Amino acid sequence: MSGKFYITTPIYYVNDQPHIGHAYTTIAADVLARGQRAAGRDVRFLTGTDEHGIKICQAAARAGLNPGELADRVVVHFRDLWKRLDIRYDDFIRTSQDRHRARVGELVRRLLDRDQIYLGAYDGWYDEGQEEYVTENDARENDYLSPISGRPLVRHSEESYFFRLSRWIEPLAAHIESHPEFIQPASRRNEVISKLKLGVEDLSISRQAAKLMNWGVPMPNDPACSVYVWIDALSNYITALGYPPLGDGQEDLFASYWPADIHLIGKDILWFHAVYWPCLLLALDLPLPVTVFAHGWWLHGGKKMSKSLGNFISREEIEDICRDYSPDYLRYFLLRSVKFGDDGNFSSGQLKEIYNTELANGVGNLLSRTVKMVEKYLSGTIPRPPSAGKSGEEEVIGRARDLIESFPGWMARLEFQSYLGAIVDLETAANRYIEENKPYALAREDPASPRLAEILATCAEAVRIILLYLLPVMPEKAAQGLEMLGVEVPDQGATVYPARWGGYDWSRTVKKGKPLFPRRD
Ligand code: ME8
Ligand code: MG
Repeated sequence: MSGKFYITTPIYYVNDQPHIGHAYTTIAADVLARGQRAAGRDVRFLTGTDEHGIKICQAAARAGLNPGELADRVVVHFRDLWKRLDIRYDDFIRTSQDRHRARVGELVRRLLDRDQIYLGAYDGWYDEGQEEYVTENDARENDYLSPISGRPLVRHSEESYFFRLSRWIEPLAAHIESHPEFIQPASRRNEVISKLKLGVEDLSISRQAAKLMNWGVPMPNDPACSVYVWIDALSNYITALGYPPLGDGQEDLFASYWPADIHLIGKDILWFHAVYWPCLLLALDLPLPVTVFAHGWWLHGGKKMSKSLGNFISREEIEDICRDYSPDYLRYFLLRSVKFGDDGNFSSGQLKEIYNTELANGVGNLLSRTVKMVEKYLSGTIPRPPSAGKSGEEEVIGRARDLIESFPGWMARLEFQSYLGAIVDLETAANRYIEENKPYALAREDPASPRLAEILATCAEAVRIILLYLLPVMPEKAAQGLEMLGVEVPDQGATVYPARWGGYDWSRTVKKGKPLFPRRD
C-alpha cells in the first residue's frame, strides 16, 4: 500500500441548493479520508463546485442574476453544509477560479497539438439536466425523455469541435479488462463493458459561447466557442493539483498525488468518469485513476432524489435532522442503513429506529453504564483489561479483534455497512457480557473482588475500541465518548489504526457526562 491517498467527490452544480444526495457522497469521501489519515496515510481530499454550463446559465436567468453571481451565492450553501457535517476537505475547487480556467485552456491546447480534436458538426438530442448528448437510439428508447430527470430532450444542431474519443475505446476496454478494481462495484463495471461493446462515437467538446452568456472556458483556438462543461468539470481532478504546470507554484501536488486512488461518484455520472475521463487522460498520456466507485441513489417514490425533480431531502431538512439528532448521526445513518453501491429509500421511521437501537440503547448505553459503574465501584479508575483466554471475555475480545482486523479491508472496498455492523456486534456482545456477568451483583457481594475490576475493564476496553473506530464516521460524538472514558482524543491526522486490545496506558479516570445518544421517542 502506498503512503498517499487522493480521493475526490464530484464537483456539484451550483444551479440549486445542496441536498442529501450531495451530502451522501461527500460524507462517504470524508469517512474514507479520515479512516486513511488515521491509518497513517498522506491524504488529499478534494471537493468543489461545477459552475459553468447551460444549467447554471438558465438558473441564473430565472433568478435575475448573472451566472457568476448565482455561483457566488450557491457555493456558500455548499461550504456551510460541509462545515455543518464536519467534512474535512483539503481543497475546494470552483471551476470559475482562474487556477482552473487557465489550466483547462492549456489542456485543450495540448489536445489540439496532439491532433485529438477536429472541427465537425453536431446534430442530435441533448439532455440539458445532465448536460449530455443522447444518441438517436437511446433517445427513442426513452421516448425522447431524459432517463434521469424525465424531462424532454432538446434538439441541438451546431458546428462543434470533437474529441477523437473513438480512438481510445480499445485501449480503455483493455484497461478495464485487466484492472477489475478500476470500475466498482462490479455490477457497474459490467454495465460499462456492455455499453462500450455497442460502439462509441467521437465527443462534441465545444458550445457556442454566446449561448452560454460567455460563461465558460473559451476554446483556445476559437474564442467564439466554449469548452463543453463536462470536459471543463472532469479536468478539475488534475487542475486542482496544479496540472498542467503554469508556473504559479501549485505544481508539486500533481507529482505527489496523481493518479487519484478513488473518484467517488453517483451512478448517474459513471459514463463520464469511466469513459470520457480516462480517454482524455490517455490522449494526454497521463496515468488513469486507480478506482472510479459509483454508489447508488437515494430514492423518493421510487425515483432518484434530484434537483430537477424537486423530490429531495433539502438542506433545511438536513438541518432538522442535525438538530433533532446530530450531524454525526446523519453521517452514521446514511452509511449504515443502505449497502454502499445500492439504492435506498430514505425513511424517517428507520432514522429513529436505527438511532434508538444501535446508538441510544447500544453504544450510548454501554458507555454510560460502564462509566457509572467504574465511578461507583472503582472510584473512577479503569484498570488494565484481561487479554484473551480468560473465561467469559472471549466473545468480546474476539469481536474487537474482528473489527480491528477487518477495518482496512472494509475501507478498501467501501463496505461501510459491514464496518458499522461490526461495531454494533461488538457493542451487543459487550452489553450482553454485562447482563451475563452482573458486575452490579458482584459489587454488592464483594466490592473489592478482582473479578469485578476485570469485568469493568473489559467493558471499558470494548467501548474504547468502539469509539476509536467510530471516529471517522462520528468525529464529534466519538471524541466526546473517549473523553468520558478518560482516553486522550487522538489529534486529526495522528495514526490510530490498527488499535490493539489492551493497547493503552491504564489507570485512566473516567468523567461522567451527559448521555452521548439520548433516546428519541
Ligand atoms: O453531476 N442519491 O453534479 P450534480 C445519491 N456537476 N447521490 C446523489 C443523488 C441521489 N439522489 N443526487 C445527487 C454533476 N447525488 C456534475 C458532476 S464531476 C466532474 C461533475 C450526488 O450537482 C452523486 O454523487 O448533479 C451524484 O453523482 C452527484 O451528486 C451529482 O451532482
Ligand atoms: Mg445531477
